[in-house]
Amino acid sequence: MRFLKFISEFFKHPKQVGAVAESSGFLARKMAQHIGQATNIVEFGPGTGSVTKEILRHMPQNSRLTCFEINPNFCERLKKIKDSRLKIVNDDVQNCNRYVEQPDCILSSLPLANFNESEKERIFTLTSKSKTYIQFQYNPFLRPTLKKYFKDVKIKFVPLNIPPAFVYISKNPRDKIYHCENSSEQKKQACNLNA
Ligand SMILES: C[S@@+](CC[C@H](N)C(=O)[O-])C[C@H]1O[C@@H](n2cnc3c(N)ncnc32)[C@H](O)[C@@H]1O
Repeated sequence: MRFLKFISEFFKHPKQVGAVAESSGFLARKMAQHIGQATNIVEFGPGTGSVTKEILRHMPQNSRLTCFEINPNFCERLKKIKDSRLKIVNDDVQNCNRYVEQPDCILSSLPLANFNESEKERIFTLTSKSKTYIQFQYNPFLRPTLKKYFKDVKIKFVPLNIPPAFVYISKNPRDKIYHCENSSEQKKQACNLNA
């Protein structure tokens, strides 16, 4: 049933969904295993929740997970996942700073190949404020762009997915991250994607 839901949403919004099938368990685990001890975790583009469920399995008990999904039909399905640590937000990721401050770890399945340059720049500016940013893509060409925003970028290949995928694990040292909890002015400067 999840397969039918996913593919029917793909036919309605092909560029936004960006994939014909949800991510495999192999891909979801490859992403979630890099969460470490993060406590304020954010997911971009959870879809039907295959990565979301793996994040919940891997994350520490005292962590919270906030998911941003633009498609309301996917949100209805995600709300069936019962876990008090999980919050689903039906909004564009570009508004994420209205809901969460300074995530430690961002996991994203956004179809970046369908985003224009300024949208991508806004996403990377936002994600580079977190210590760890984990993104999957179907191509191996994202590393040079990510290196402009992150000190350390690793790529893992996941063959057991339709289609095979690449997971990018990008990290910035803690002292290079701009903290935005102090004043609302600082928060605007550091986090406002719409600026
Ligand atoms: C490739 S699918 C991945 C779904 C799921 N995480 C998986 O791996 O099976 C991309 C998801 O990103 C969502 N999405 C695309 N653009 C978005 C945006 N600007 N804000 C929030 N979600 C977005 C789509 O609705 C879709 O659910």
